[in-house]
Amino acid sequence: MKCTQSRSILCALACVAAGAVLVSHAAFASQEIKVRPFGETEEGEAVDLYTLVNSEGAQVEITNYGGIVVSLMMPDQEGEFDDIVLGFDTLDEYLEGHPYFGATVGRYANRIANAEFTLDGETYTLTANDGPNHIHGGDQGFDRVVWLAQAHTASNGPVLRLYYVSEDGEEGYPGNLEVMVTYTLTNDNELRTDFHATTDAPTICNLTHHSYFNLAGEGDILDHVVMMPADHFTPVDEELIPTGEIQSVDGTPFDFREPTPIGARIDDDDEQLEQGGGYDHNWVYDKETGELTLLARVTEPESGRVMEVLSTKPGMQLYTGNFLDGSLTGKDGWVYEERHAFCMEPHYFPDSPNQPDFPSAVLRPGETYEHTIVYRFSVEDE
Ligand code: BGC
Repeated sequence: MKCTQSRSILCALACVAAGAVLVSHAAFASQEIKVRPFGETEEGEAVDLYTLVNSEGAQVEITNYGGIVVSLMMPDQEGEFDDIVLGFDTLDEYLEGHPYFGATVGRYANRIANAEFTLDGETYTLTANDGPNHIHGGDQGFDRVVWLAQAHTASNGPVLRLYYVSEDGEEGYPGNLEVMVTYTLTNDNELRTDFHATTDAPTICNLTHHSYFNLAGEGDILDHVVMMPADHFTPVDEELIPTGEIQSVDGTPFDFREPTPIGARIDDDDEQLEQGGGYDHNWVYDKETGELTLLARVTEPESGRVMEVLSTKPGMQLYTGNFLDGSLTGKDGWVYEERHAFCMEPHYFPDSPNQPDFPSAVLRPGETYEHTIVYRFSVEDE
């Protein structure tokens, strides 16, 4: 069976099941794709670890358990490569539980108040896995399932495609959702994630990527300088659920329209920073959903590493690792403490199914959910 770009996910699943070429790297010799066994889930499902290397020698390791980015090697201004994401060496450590390190998050990224929403007059109850609320798809979100995987080289860099069918009723969501996530490590040092989903019944869909970045590869991220061209953010209550207000960033520690170190105001006496224990908020971008635009530019002064974040969605959560507390030890024995990393999670707004004035995350049969995120890496001199 020959798979084409326009195939349905079910066709793609059939291709993989039928033993279509899983890894091929004939066409673009300087790229490399490797795959090795990463272990087994408790249910005995085999899990692999894929290594994609682009023509510049940058490298990403991704497992088909949770679509998790396990490591990401990018050069600094001296050309030295460092791993710039948090994570673990072994599958068992991921299985023991972690705060979504590197994960593919869905069916609905971020929080849904009281773990319920109403769609077309029907109320759906989701798994409550964050106090009374629902977060990141529930107990068995997309970060904790085994995806079918298919890797190949392409003209712009090595590609890993992941497929998963989320069944009707899973974690309380209506409709069978067929999901495809395509990771590309481009030869321009971008980690690109293209999400694609269709449903057979009205549902909600909000997918994102949850890497914890530290562009220095060590220490805290308070000196990372952030620019976000957003005039507004969504304030939250004490459970980190949006109040529904779209608040101006003017005169607040949420104004990152000029490049500002993350740590410059993080401990300010500010009610919203107290609610989040730091930054754990959604920024609002004045744009059309579907346009790929710049949501953030982050620079790390010591290494010179720069990360730009682009997405086709209208919101982005900046989370500054406020709940990391030294209880997890990751790769190279690094003990992950508060603010050792930050996440930039482009998506629809949190709790949008319960907020009529927020952009809608409803997906209906016949429609296609699409989301592109680009994490673009470069260096600049001090
Ligand atoms: C949320 C945080 C949460 C973290 C890990 C982030 O997306 O905004 O509140 O602690 O994920 O679950």
